[in-house]
Amino acid sequence: MVTGMLEPTLNTFDERIVGADRGGQAWCQTDHVDLTGLLSRPQLRPGEARLPWDDEEFSTRMLTEHLDDRHDMASRRGSLIDRHVAWLSTLAPHGHRVLDLGCGPGLYLERFGRAGWEGVGVDVSPAAIGHATRRASILGIGCTYVQGDLRNTRVARPFDLVLCVFGELNTFPIEDVRDVLDVASGAVSRDGRIVIEVSTRAGVADKAGRPVSWYAAAGGLFADGPHVVLRESGWFEDDQATVERWWIMDEFTTSPRMFGSTTWFHYQLAEAIHEAGLVIDGRFGEPTGAAASGEGDFETLVLRRS
Ligand SMILES: C[S@@+](CC[C@H](N)C(=O)[O-])C[C@H]1O[C@@H](n2cnc3c(N)ncnc32)[C@H](O)[C@@H]1O
Repeated sequence: MVTGMLEPTLNTFDERIVGADRGGQAWCQTDHVDLTGLLSRPQLRPGEARLPWDDEEFSTRMLTEHLDDRHDMASRRGSLIDRHVAWLSTLAPHGHRVLDLGCGPGLYLERFGRAGWEGVGVDVSPAAIGHATRRASILGIGCTYVQGDLRNTRVARPFDLVLCVFGELNTFPIEDVRDVLDVASGAVSRDGRIVIEVSTRAGVADKAGRPVSWYAAAGGLFADGPHVVLRESGWFEDDQATVERWWIMDEFTTSPRMFGSTTWFHYQLAEAIHEAGLVIDGRFGEPTGAAASGEGDFETLVLRRS
């Protein structure tokens, strides 16, 4: 998923653009912005940074993006998640327990819960877990949430379905993906299914193909107030990875703040699945059961224990 989501869509750009109501006045309130760090910034490097999903303030801003049904950037729109859950439910026809690794604000589990399933969600985001927990209580559904790292949070109880969707696995190096597959393999029941949605090579490389760009926003994922975002990215053939960086300058900036993310194409995934004691039971273009076209940004794999 993830990183295309960080730039506003054209629709939201106009609403967020800085300076539109400021009559052309200078908007930067700092006396001096030190750009030397930007000039002497290090070369892009795979794995140099991760988005701070577990940071209180960042996760609160990210939650706003998850819940914004006008775009598919942090989570898919509700109408598409409805279709995903309808299809995912058919993979475990007799099942009623589902584990969602990287559940965000529980948009998938909420739908399973309404259909009578028990759900457990794991996510590092304090804001997303807080939101999902409150929703479960309001709706009176059997979903519980754990704030933890999906690479090492083990939830006892076999699950009929284990999910890790929207390409989150690709933001981890392959060693970490092996850990997640172990967690999933340990959690799924003998006849259950694991569904992972991963980025294709084209989907990963596409992020690097975008030119250096910038935008101005009145508030958004990277800052609450007016700010400017400068984005750069690069493709690393040896690592089969795209590295993205966002440099943020806001009203309080004395030197630009950097956010970064790496998205790996996991050419070793089939081997890692095998080593986790799992086999691939089906390949799809998306979690609606649509056939894989070979050209999309994501691929959905259905796994079971071997
Ligand atoms: C693109 S969002 C997808 C959320 C949800 N699966 C959905 O599709 O609506 C990725 C999610 O992974 C979570 N995440 C990132 N790193 C994580 C980690 N190490 N452990 C648990 N969750 C993590 C983020 O907080 C975020 O909620």
